[in-house]
Amino acid sequence: MEISSMLSVLIPFFFLIPSIINARDSITPTQPLKDSNQNIISLNGQFELGFFNLSNRRYLAIKYRNIAPDSIIWVANRNSPLNDTSGILTITSQGTLLLTANNTKNTSSPKLIWRANGPNPTGSINPIARLLDNGNLVVGDYLWQSFDYPGNTLMPTMKFGWNIETGVDRSMSSWKSDDDPSEGQYHFKFDHSGYPQMFLKSQNVTVYRTGPWNGVRFSGAPNLKQNSFYTFDFIINEKEVYYQYNLTDLKVSTRMLLRTNGNIDRFIWNDKVNGWIQYLTTQLDSCDRFNLCGPYAICNINNSPVCGCLDGFKPKDPNAWETAYWNDGCVRSVKLECNSDGFKKVSGLKLPDTRKVYYNKSLNLKECEKLCHKNCSCTAFTNSDIRNGGSGCFLWFGELIDTRYYSKQDGQDLYVRMAASQLGSHSTTRKLVSILVPVLIFITGSIFIFVWLKRKGKREDFFPEQELSRSHMSASHTQDNDLELPFFDILTMNKATDNFSSKNELGKGGFGIVYKGILSDGQEIAVKRLSKHSNQGVQEFKNEASCMIKLQHRNLVRLLGCCIHEEEKLLVYEYMPNTSLDLLLFDKTKNCQLDWPIRFNIINGIARGLVYLHHDSRLRIIHRDLKTSNILLDNDFNPKISDFGMARIFGGSEADLENTKRIVGTYGYMAPEYAIDGHFSTKSDVFSFGVLLLEIVSGKKNREFSHPTHGLNLLGHAWKLYNEERSMELLDSSVEESANVPEIMRVIQMGLLCVQKSPEKRPSMSMVVLMLGSTISLPNPNEPGFFIEREIDCPSSSSNFNKSINEITITFMDGR
Ligand SMILES: *[C@@H]1O[C@H](CO)[C@@H](O)[C@H](O)[C@H]1NC(C)=O
Ligand SMILES: *[C@@H]1O[C@H](CO)[C@@H](O)[C@H](O)[C@H]1NC(C)=O
Repeated sequence: MEISSMLSVLIPFFFLIPSIINARDSITPTQPLKDSNQNIISLNGQFELGFFNLSNRRYLAIKYRNIAPDSIIWVANRNSPLNDTSGILTITSQGTLLLTANNTKNTSSPKLIWRANGPNPTGSINPIARLLDNGNLVVGDYLWQSFDYPGNTLMPTMKFGWNIETGVDRSMSSWKSDDDPSEGQYHFKFDHSGYPQMFLKSQNVTVYRTGPWNGVRFSGAPNLKQNSFYTFDFIINEKEVYYQYNLTDLKVSTRMLLRTNGNIDRFIWNDKVNGWIQYLTTQLDSCDRFNLCGPYAICNINNSPVCGCLDGFKPKDPNAWETAYWNDGCVRSVKLECNSDGFKKVSGLKLPDTRKVYYNKSLNLKECEKLCHKNCSCTAFTNSDIRNGGSGCFLWFGELIDTRYYSKQDGQDLYVRMAASQLGSHSTTRKLVSILVPVLIFITGSIFIFVWLKRKGKREDFFPEQELSRSHMSASHTQDNDLELPFFDILTMNKATDNFSSKNELGKGGFGIVYKGILSDGQEIAVKRLSKHSNQGVQEFKNEASCMIKLQHRNLVRLLGCCIHEEEKLLVYEYMPNTSLDLLLFDKTKNCQLDWPIRFNIINGIARGLVYLHHDSRLRIIHRDLKTSNILLDNDFNPKISDFGMARIFGGSEADLENTKRIVGTYGYMAPEYAIDGHFSTKSDVFSFGVLLLEIVSGKKNREFSHPTHGLNLLGHAWKLYNEERSMELLDSSVEESANVPEIMRVIQMGLLCVQKSPEKRPSMSMVVLMLGSTISLPNPNEPGFFIEREIDCPSSSSNFNKSINEITITFMDGR
């Protein structure tokens, strides 16, 4: 997310001076905190400590006071909730905090619920517990502090890591659920073996590794960049190892959360929307899954499959190329010989796991190389600090695991040990090379030009790589960042789809027919065949292929490859057994399969897929034809967005809003500013998403719906019911049994927020995800766009108007 755009929406909040006269910021032995008492409030009024309810249980917790009154930052008794309001927090004369409650069996002695464990106090004690302005509850002179015992929240100034002297090792653990703060399944913690790195574990399984600190950021967190909101640093010395961030602008509120689903996200408070906005997320894509590809492999999200081998290595299992992920990893192509070995530089990487490295802060790269070269079991080396041209030394021994490729500027260099024969580093070879290379370049150049001229004469090339297509799927993967699309040949496609037999037809899309196919190895695929007669689809096809291959998200349909043969252009996708949402949702006999939890899951999935398209993927993509028939469902009814044929690719810096010459979309889903003026932006997708929400709740098509009495379309009808506080009447009768009323009311209100007439008023998709996943209160929607007009007039002057049969995707060239 761009910082400048973030800034523009941030409105500073004002510090409130505690308005309650008898508010206090501390607890003493004579003044305990009772559940019935006034809460403890920090001097600046920003935080309060008190007893709060979470799903009918009571917790002693610290939370924000001025903003986000639902946002708890710390819970004392997270694993032992209170059932009543008898809780009392006291401090002993020894400075120990105790949380007690009424004992139901023995009324004379209270029951101990929680105690502040910590180093035993020595020397003189000042038994007072104070809630500081940063939200830290501190006993005496930092005898004990709540910041040493984080839950799921990392606050500014908190130290995340190890104090070697006191033994305190601060880590984070997720909540069980959004209203149950007890310890959930995810833990985020430093591992101090080798060079410290943070590991995220789900129970005992490692799911993510930050990589080592490289002086600027963690090697596996390229998004962590200096900004105008907070500074951050990693400290490693004889006494402490920790990560910390501080606010630079005290008017900003930000916190890092380990969420119940294991995501590590940073949020920034936004006054305008009165909610937390996701600012950063740590795990970007499947390549962040720990050790996805196995030893000596590199995960590259731009490749398909994402796993590949380091140069000089080959897959251990040669059939692994057939699958997207493999764990066996890679083995050397040429055996090492020790003394004659050299090193090959690989750039743009997240450094491999450093749990077994040797680390020396004062060596330079030359000395580091020497050391590695001397030891035959040293497999790689690099600088440990990338600042000022690099310093320090890491040496790896044994397997290199969990390495991924980012880009030249986001990643780091690694020098990997290679047999001399793979490097050609001897002086004689060098001489030979200096003669041979120019000759070779000349020869290949001539051949290339010759071939190119010949082919150019024949026809305009669609994909030059076409000539590479081999019998089944060509799989010549390289480690570089080039886009590479696997190619299938036409014979394979004919066989798979039974010569495009009509019985294999799955449906008609905007630019062609989709067929089911089965490859010879039994894999089911969906083949989209671009209509032969339409020149119009070529651009869309090209977009879709080059765009989709780079996009990987579990809520997007995966492109497996493509096929081009003469006039024929095919896209090969993964096959979705449950077909598309419209076929279930609008079918009275089938829609009972979609109970409310499934529908809510579908809504969440579509929203996450869109956030990825709009914000998280490296390309900014606007779908432009979002509708139920473009939402496919897998075996478990997880939604996958399909059909990016009409998506526009934006570079990161380009304007959000573009005036399009070609309008593509579907009536009933198109935002008014898009259908009428051709303006499209991420907010026009938000509009279509809003229509989807209302359709999913009601089980009715916006386009076909016309209310018998008032004649409004679905949006108008939903708007009318909302204003009459009868929203629940919109609900599809087949989900009544599984209905979760607050959730449904929320989804309807969000649907209406998304279809508001004015694009600026609609929330962004990341805001939508935030609203779906929380209970922050939602603003009231304004009038939706297109709620009376049942259809808009098509500009009849359009010369190139095309409306494909049985299909409501519309394309026309706009001459304005
Ligand atoms: C995790 O724990 C389970 C059960 O305690 C065990 O079966 C499994 O092998 C463990 N996995 C790892 C990676 O240690
Ligand atoms: C944060 O602030 C504390 C206290 O002022 C300071 O000691 C520490 O170095 C700061 N850390 C960062 C990362 O700015």
